[in-house]
Formats: sequence, C-alpha cells, structure tokens
Amino acid sequence: MRKLALSFLMCAFGTLVATGACSRNRHPADTALAPAGWAFPADQVIPTYGTDGMVSTTDRVASEVGAEVLRRGGNAVDAAVATHFALAVVNPEAGNIGGGGFMIVRLADGTTAALDFREKAPRAATRDMYLDSTGKVSERALVGHLAAGVPGSVAGMWEAHKRFGSLPWAELVQPAINLAEGIVVHARLARSLQSNVADLRRFPATAAIFLVDSQPLRVGDRFVQRDMAATLRRIARDGKDGFYRGETAELIEAEMRRGGGIMTREDLAAYDAPWRDPIVFEYREHTVISMPPPSSGGITLAQILNTLEGFDLHSLGYHSPDHVHLWTEAAKLAFVDRNEYLADPDFVPQPTRELVSEEYALRKRAEIDADRATPSSRVLPGLGPFARTARTARREGENTTHYSIIDRGGNAVAVTTTINSLYGNLVTVAGAGFLLNNEMDDFAALPGTPNQFGLVQGEANAIEPGKRMLSAMTPTIVLDPAGRVKLVTGSPGGPTIITTVAQIISNVVDFAMDAGASTAAPRLHHQHLPDTLFYERDGLHPDVVAALRARGHDVQARSGYQGDTQTIVVLPDGRLAGVADPRRGGAAVAVRSAR
Ligand code: GLY
Repeated sequence: MRKLALSFLMCAFGTLVATGACSRNRHPADTALAPAGWAFPADQVIPTYGTDGMVSTTDRVASEVGAEVLRRGGNAVDAAVATHFALAVVNPEAGNIGGGGFMIVRLADGTTAALDFREKAPRAATRDMYLDSTGKVSERALVGHLAAGVPGSVAGMWEAHKRFGSLPWAELVQPAINLAEGIVVHARLARSLQSNVADLRRFPATAAIFLVDSQPLRVGDRFVQRDMAATLRRIARDGKDGFYRGETAELIEAEMRRGGGIMTREDLAAYDAPWRDPIVFEYREHTVISMPPPSSGGITLAQILNTLEGFDLHSLGYHSPDHVHLWTEAAKLAFVDRNEYLADPDFVPQPTRELVSEEYALRKRAEIDADRATPSSRVLPGLGPFARTARTARREGENTTHYSIIDRGGNAVAVTTTINSLYGNLVTVAGAGFLLNNEMDDFAALPGTPNQFGLVQGEANAIEPGKRMLSAMTPTIVLDPAGRVKLVTGSPGGPTIITTVAQIISNVVDFAMDAGASTAAPRLHHQHLPDTLFYERDGLHPDVVAALRARGHDVQARSGYQGDTQTIVVLPDGRLAGVADPRRGGAAVAVRSAR
C-alpha cells in the first residue's frame, strides 16, 4: 500500500492573494474547474455584493424580509427570526414552524453559540414503533401522524430572540403574517407543488391549502394561508406559548387523535431548545464553528477536514483523480464513525473530543491507501472503547433549507431547518394551517438496516421517548486566521449536507475560490454505505471517473444536483459577497449594494 506523502499547506485564502505564495492557485472564476457541459459554470454564478448586511435564503421573498429587518436596525438574530417565519410561509416544502433545526451564532465581540431546536420523540414513542408484523420498518415512519417529532422551530426562534434579539418579537413575526394573508405563487413553488401533487392529495387539510379542485396552485395564483396566519398571530402575541400551549397545542393534539398520532399537549409544553457548545476546530489556520450533536454535522465535518488537512490538496489539482480519491476516503472514514457513535448527547455519551482530535486524524490518515479505494466493509469505526456491535441503515430527508445572515455590525448567523422530507409527513394540523415534520425517520427505526438515504447508523440513535433524532444539518461559520468572520454557509441535503459544506470550505480555503466559484463547483458525496461515490451529472470529467473506477471506487452520477447552499464570504476589504445556490435558485439580498 502506497501512502500519500503528507505535506502541510500553510497557504490560506487571505494570504494567497496577498502574497501569491501558492502560484498554482486557480483564478476564482476559472471555468476549467468543471468539465465542459457542467450546468453551473463558475463565471456565471455572480455573487451579490453589499456593505451593510446580507441575507441569503432559498427564496427571494424571505431574503427580503430578513434584509428589511437589518435595514430597520435589527441585528442578524432578529433577521434570522423574521426570515425563519417567512420561510415557513413562502417555502412550505421545507421552511417551517412544524419542524426543527440548528443555529450557529458568531457575534462581532467573539461570542459563539449553538442553538439546538431539533425535534424530540414524543413521550409515548417506543423503540419498535415503526416495525410491522414482519419486523420491517413501515411507511408510518415517513408519512402520517406517527412520523412527527415534537416541533422545535418556534421554541428555537424564541430562545434565540430572548438571548440575542434587539427588536420586539411581534415585529419580527409580522412579515410572515402578512405573507400568509396572501402571496402570488411564483415559479419555484408552482413547480414544487406540481411535482408533489400526489402526496399533497393524501391528507384533506393539506390538499385544502395547496390544491384547488385537486390541482396544484399555478404561477400567478393567489396563495392564502388563513389558518397559518392565525397561528402566527398567536405566536406573535404569546411568544413560544402561542405554539406550545393553548389553542395551537390543542389543535395539534386533536390532529394527532384524529390520525393515530401520539404527540400530546404535555409533549409540547415540555419542549425545550437548549444552547450547546459548538464544535470548534482549526482548518489550515482558519477556525471552523459548527453544530454539535444531536447534529452529526460539526463532528463529521471536522473529521473530513482534519483528515484532508494532512495533504496538499492544491498541488494535487482540483478534482484530479488523486484529489477525489483522497476526499472520498476521508468522507468514508468520517461517516463510519458518524453512523456508529453519534446521537442525542442527552441520552448517549458522545466521544466528541476523541473524534475531532489531531491524534485521531493522524491515525485515520494512515489508513488511507493512495492507490486503491478501501472497501467500506473494511472501513471500521475507529474508537475501540466506544465500539458497538449493532448497525443501522437509515435515510434522512434531503428537503431541508438553510439561511445565512451577516449584519452591519459583523454579527453572523447560520441556520439550517427542516421538516425532513418535502412537505414533512404530509399532515397539516387542521385549523392551525402548518405542516408537521416526519423527523422520526431520522432515528434508527431498526438498527442495522438502511434508512431512506441508505445511511447505516448505530444503536446509539435508536428511538427513545424524549430523545432527539440524529441530524446531518451543518450550519457553519468560518473565521480567517485573524479571527474575523470569513464565511457563513450551510445547505439542505440530508447526509450530503456535511459533504457539501466540507467542499464549500475546502473550495475557499484550499483552492482560493470566491463565493460564486465555490458554490458553482461540482459536488461529490460518499457516506460509507452505500459504498458509492456520487457526483453531480457532468460534474466529473469522464477520464477522472475512469481513473477512479480503476482504483476500485464505485462511481455513480446522481440523478439530480447536490445541495442548495446559501453562502456569504467576507472579502478582505470588508464587503460581503452573498451567493444563493443556482441549483434551486434562491436569492442573496444585500442591505446596501456594492460592486
Ligand atoms: N432531516 C435531515 C437531517 O436532519 O439531517
């Protein structure tokens, strides 16, 4: 087995440009970074530049709501709260009040914080609740009332506002109320409704919102969500209690009774959104701040980048066979640990320090064969004392959404939020007008079998009452070597979130790409099992694919594209460059435009 020579690349984006020390650096707009035929050439993904703040989301209307809060003098957390509620209205396939998520905050004064508003299993949940009479996981883990975890979004926004907000709460919820009273359907929402029409017909309260005479709303139609507006008014008036107690809680419990669900008013009243210690690690002199468990995002991101840090990726050449080979092996090594060890830290001790340590990365690098792909069956979890025997395979929803915000004071917020699958569990709470999540499917319903994304996870993530299901959401903020915010990013995509965020960071730090090029660059994904390297269609040169296959990799093109990143890069002169991923087409909105 040939070991790749380790070298420690000291160059980083900030110094590269200034010193020219790494002459092989690609120009940020170098279209040769992707093969001919690639759908998103780097020079066509143009950042939005601003000076006094930036909000990037998957929907222009929601970005405008956040930017308007910044214009009125609100800070990045105020803008996040308003943006979150607006996304619940304008992007109902993933934006939500019936789901959950994670927030990373980095204030200009150096304060960092990680907020966990992940859903919880209801107290009546049991380990085998989704197994049918043959012992297989039934559809009830994904569709219908039983699939819902106790929502966390409203508690999360309330908690974030309580700690960091500056504008009155009700003012931040009001824009979403206005939107719920009526918006005009735009092309992306219409496309989404059309592609999911069969699912949207399954539950009458959901059909009543999105369909007219059983047909989806079309571009230009008026989209009115009266019950959602009423729920948002209760939240504006009563804060967290407007959701977790009183009328909204009663409506949720009644919906559960109607559909055979188990969530109760007691579950709702008991929900809390704790602050946790963020995962913080160094990558080539940059500081990366990301989400700890119950998200696997930060730890797995750290493991991938720690492994890669030992190699001079730049000298290998962007998406050369050597680069992709190394990257793939690093992802495999990280995901096997993720799937085995990570879970809700309130229920399962997490080997965080071990997994993100330099010593561990050194050991893992030594397992990489420079010439051959190591089959996943031989890539084993690496912490002997923590090793478990039971194995799980499960799937996580790709239909999450992310927003990134920086305000004029330099405070930064990254939020990833989800109801898991598109339109969650497909159940709208009748009378309350919002969709519930199907996040229970992110647990290991049957440890040892694959989930909807083929993820094979461990016993640690088995269902228990009150437990939070493991997530892959990876809201992330990167500081430059001087400790200033450099990059705010995140993405939807289930397990691909982690690999997408890792690539955005590596693109900027290792390959000196700007916000547009790092977003445009074709993406890769490997998650240990299945033992397949996925690439975006036309995103790898056929010769590279052939070379990787010759090394033993199973390489497959994905049917669609990977991720929907919302990225803000702070330029050396202080301007902000925001890019909403063209793969789904959102918008970065600057508070004050610049060139
Ligand atoms: N539901 C997707 C995730 O949390 O990773």
